[in-house]
Amino acid sequence: MVNKALIALGIFSSIALSFPTYTVKPLPDKPPEPPDNPTTPEKVELGKFLYFDPRLSGDGSTSCATCHDPNHAWGKRQVFSPAYPGNKHFRNSPTILNAAYNLFMFWDGRTKGLEEQAKKPIESPFEMNLTHDLMVERIKKIPKYVEMFKKAFPDEEDPITVENVVKAIAAFERTIVCNDSPFDLYMRGDKTAMTEKQIKGLQLFIGKAGCVQCHNGPNFTDEKLHITGVPKNKLEDDTLVAITRNFVVRTAGLNPKEIDRDLGAYFSTKDPKLKGAFKTPSLRNVALTPPYMHNGVFKTLDEVIEFYNKGGGDVENKSPLLRPLNLTQDEKEALKAFLEALTCKTIPYVEEPELPPYEGEE
Ligand code: HEC
Ligand code: HEC
Repeated sequence: MVNKALIALGIFSSIALSFPTYTVKPLPDKPPEPPDNPTTPEKVELGKFLYFDPRLSGDGSTSCATCHDPNHAWGKRQVFSPAYPGNKHFRNSPTILNAAYNLFMFWDGRTKGLEEQAKKPIESPFEMNLTHDLMVERIKKIPKYVEMFKKAFPDEEDPITVENVVKAIAAFERTIVCNDSPFDLYMRGDKTAMTEKQIKGLQLFIGKAGCVQCHNGPNFTDEKLHITGVPKNKLEDDTLVAITRNFVVRTAGLNPKEIDRDLGAYFSTKDPKLKGAFKTPSLRNVALTPPYMHNGVFKTLDEVIEFYNKGGGDVENKSPLLRPLNLTQDEKEALKAFLEALTCKTIPYVEEPELPPYEGEE
């Protein structure tokens, strides 16, 4: 089977062909958008305000930007995400940069699309802790928002609804994208955009190291669940972290007494075959978003590469796609250089807007 992307790369070698059905690609100019939520400037502007507004949380402390921070490449560079005051989160906060290109959301892929995703943190008791209905009542008392919702949804009589809140936020997220990484430029024909080392890393990525088996397509994810055996992070035993995890486990109808770590998609599906399964994350801009994995257990890309070099973690049900790689020191460095070539030259940045007051407030 002939692989067009590989021919275009000029590395149509036997190594590159070891995974002939998988490819990596440059990102298209615009992310896809659902037919019922076309992006408009008015929606994006409203979504920006809502994204930064902590009044979308119970005690007015926490906005989307608290955990997906423009100053941290739209993620948060700490092991576990921030959480609603009084709690600790049990998962690392992924970046929303280029999330618009993902089909499934969250570390366990449990939700489809940005709109559905945005509903979840608002009412999560350990994230923003605000019921959707109370949120709507609050927004109705912010005159500037009333005006902005009318402009963003001009055909609707009563536009301030949960559905429209998440449509606006999703429209904003669809503007937090970038596709000018050395890899994208290289794939679009600028053969000088990547260094020799990065090109060698790309060959390893799609060849000997086998990364492309899971990290493929334009966003470097197959959108599927895999068990890689990422080791437990000792910090998962922290009392407040364990409380949050136990809450999630119990809500899922499982028994916290039998579970001492994050088992990923098992929590959202109760399927024992998915114990420890997580969705392949995108690798775009990954150099900017340490620490790594759902539990932030690896501090550097070197540690991640070492993990894969050993053939992944030590669990019984591990993916058959992982095996010891026997990479030389040079090869490990080339692989890392390639991952760094996935960093955009211009990372979108948005200043926190000045938030409008409630009615009767200054
Ligand atoms: C208190 C921290 C926190 C807040 C507030 C928060 N998030 Fe998140 N977000 C997370 C964490 C942690 C995850 C991963 C959780 C998981 O996988 O279970 C996540 C996942 C996501 C993802 C999925 C990314 C991917 O590639 O899978 C998106 C998109 C996202 N959040 C957007 C938002 C938006 C929009 C808001 C505001 C409405 C928001 N988040 C509020 C912590 C937070
Ligand atoms: C069997 C599928 C599979 C293969 C093969 C694979 N990965 Fe992954 N990768 C995953 C999954 C699933 C995760 C998330 C695991 C978790 O959080 O527990 C991940 C996470 C990562 C992360 C962390 C991303 C982040 O934002 O925290 C990096 C970096 C990474 N992989 C690089 C690689 C490299 C380099 C290779 C090749 C040596 C590779 N992967 C091979 C499935 C795979």
